[in-house]
Amino acid sequence: MIHPIQRKAASQVIIALDFSTPVEADRFLTHWRDREKPFIKVGMQLFYAAGPDWVKGIVEEGYPVFLDLKLHDIPHTVAGAVRSLAGLGVLLLTLHATGGREMMEAAQEAATTSSGGGGPRLLAVTQLTSTDKRMMNDELCIPGSVRDSVLHLARLAHQSGIDGVVCSGEEAGMIKERVSREMWTVTPGIRLEGEEQEDQKRVMTPKAAVRAGADLLVVGRSITRSSDPVATYEGMMKQIQWKERDYDE
Ligand code: C5P
Repeated sequence: MIHPIQRKAASQVIIALDFSTPVEADRFLTHWRDREKPFIKVGMQLFYAAGPDWVKGIVEEGYPVFLDLKLHDIPHTVAGAVRSLAGLGVLLLTLHATGGREMMEAAQEAATTSSGGGGPRLLAVTQLTSTDKRMMNDELCIPGSVRDSVLHLARLAHQSGIDGVVCSGEEAGMIKERVSREMWTVTPGIRLEGEEQEDQKRVMTPKAAVRAGADLLVVGRSITRSSDPVATYEGMMKQIQWKERDYDE
């Protein structure tokens, strides 16, 4: 069976619904009331405010959902969390690669055996972009460069059976080349040409990110704060549509 995410995994823009209440999120989604539903990302802030039933509701409305909860705990607990979340019908779910191989394997086993094989596909977070070399070396006692740690953790995720990683556009090519071409790369930090970077340190345009090896692009404020969110979203999708789609039925 082809998992629904495989039809979505070739060049997609995922809208990050970074709102603090479900009311604001619902108001934003009315832009798509009579349109094909875009892929959306729900993070911790909205999930903890809105709850699982709200997520289930938008899945039932037809939104493909990426649940970005960055799970990290003992293997048994993470596997249980994956099983609980699988019932929501979300397509993608994140966990921390620093939880280790046993945790990722337990999560993967739970994901593939939940909901008759239609459970979420898992993405590993390697090093957060807020982590720098000093913090990693001095506070966490992890030697070496952040880039080497990202590569190591992406490999560990791949060996644990995880389908993809969240990474910067700059890391996407490295992961495709040095870990696996099959590993999905999901990339935030996307801005349109000439747009404000705000707090993102390194940004790429949608086209540049896909050229660099990103499969799925996570875009928040460029779309949520646009005066015409649908036009901005569709413009970004158009920029990346040249990429070959290689998932056959
Ligand atoms: O508004 P903006 O496009 O910067 O939002 C990017 C989204 O991607 C946010 O939901 C943010 O939390 C997420 N993200 C990120 N950098 C990471 C991981 C996730 O910006 N390293």
